[in-house]
Amino acid sequence: MSNLLVKNGNIVLSTGIYKWDIKVLNGIVVEIGRGISPSGVEEVIDASNCYVLPGVVDEHVHMREPGLEYKDDFEHGSKAAIKGGVTTVIEHPNTLPPVEDSKKLLTKAKLLESKAYVDFALLGVLHDANIFEFEDMIEAGAVGFKVFMGPTTGNIPPPSESTLYEIMEKSAKKNVRVMFHAEDYKLVEYFTERIKKTGRIDPELHTEARPPLVEVHSILKIASITKYAGGHAHIVHVSSLDAIEAIKLAREWGVDITAETCPHYFLLDINDYKRYKALIKVNPPIRGGIHREALLKAIVSGFFETIGSDHAPHTPEEKSKSIWEAAAGFPGVQTLLPLMLDLAFRGVLPLTHIPRLLAENPAKLFNLWPYKGTIMPGSSGDLVIIDPDSYTEVTSEWLEYKYKLSPYIGLRLKGRVRDVILRGHVVVKDGKLTGRKVGVFLKRISQ
Ligand code: NCD
Ligand code: ZN
Repeated sequence: MSNLLVKNGNIVLSTGIYKWDIKVLNGIVVEIGRGISPSGVEEVIDASNCYVLPGVVDEHVHMREPGLEYKDDFEHGSKAAIKGGVTTVIEHPNTLPPVEDSKKLLTKAKLLESKAYVDFALLGVLHDANIFEFEDMIEAGAVGFKVFMGPTTGNIPPPSESTLYEIMEKSAKKNVRVMFHAEDYKLVEYFTERIKKTGRIDPELHTEARPPLVEVHSILKIASITKYAGGHAHIVHVSSLDAIEAIKLAREWGVDITAETCPHYFLLDINDYKRYKALIKVNPPIRGGIHREALLKAIVSGFFETIGSDHAPHTPEEKSKSIWEAAAGFPGVQTLLPLMLDLAFRGVLPLTHIPRLLAENPAKLFNLWPYKGTIMPGSSGDLVIIDPDSYTEVTSEWLEYKYKLSPYIGLRLKGRVRDVILRGHVVVKDGKLTGRKVGVFLKRISQ
């Protein structure tokens, strides 16, 4: 059953809020407007006093399959996604094996499709030893690529300058955007060794070992190579004021460089290590203070194109080690939209920023637009109905992750994801999963 009518809701798009009905037939939005007739639909959903947003496209998830299922798996991760209003995820390639060629990409797609509660697209990884796989991975459906400039989960090596140049040349030629984990490998190694020598073990050291310089140095390197090679760069998980300034310089210089940040960089603070210890260890690190303020300001002003979750689950054992040994990253796909709605309903940012940052731009940048990311005739019937007068209690019971290791447990957030519709299928009803497992693999839409 994928034919339905959503009535009387307030549709939130980046351009404004509209009191319209939405008709979905065979999974596709066919009509938007006032007083639409229910002919041909099996279900009418009343969204009075609610907001209706396009399904969220979370461009930054690490769901761990294949190979790292002991941390989490696609079944848990994709259930968590839809419960939080995410209807499309862009899955990152640092799995085991990493997504290094088209065969691995297609094998991963097949595996995930058998477990998917959410629609998903895939990124390939690029480094010195596999750059010649670029075109084949695009052909197989990759929506973009990921390059790791610094050390993090998966130990993927950073590219040499010449490889980076060729990646960006190919990015220009094929019109594909490349996501960068922008932390300079050698500088991270240098600062880590230097700080380890002090013998201190407090968790804040993780932040000291990756100061803003490591981000800035990496961004300026990417920017200078992109300036001359061409191509489209996307800096993910921007964590500092300094990184924002570096990206601004690159843009003034005419470089096509877009940017993502994640909720933890503007919601958490370095003081939170006292309470959470290595649970909030993440790369780049939580900084707080002036960085937190600058990030929020940059979100409100429109500097950032996207906000992703950087959903990165690990086991309780991996997260309870000492700060140097603990794994970096924590899950966030289920809380991404609720945290952003809470900010909007408390007046921190306009509600219309949410569809732009969490749906429209990720779909545009990663070749899923206009099928995903918006509500218009011809687009996928992916809708999230929000009750602004209810609250989301973030509890272990509510979270669908394999391990409930979220720093947001205990929060009471304004607004609640009531219903979620994926290609016309009701996958969440009154906050609960309906059990419909209808997720599919999304190939890049060539423009
Ligand atoms: C990510 C992970 O665990 O996959 N960890 C993280 O700290 N952000 C990898 C990454 O994006 O760096
Ligand atoms: Zn990263």
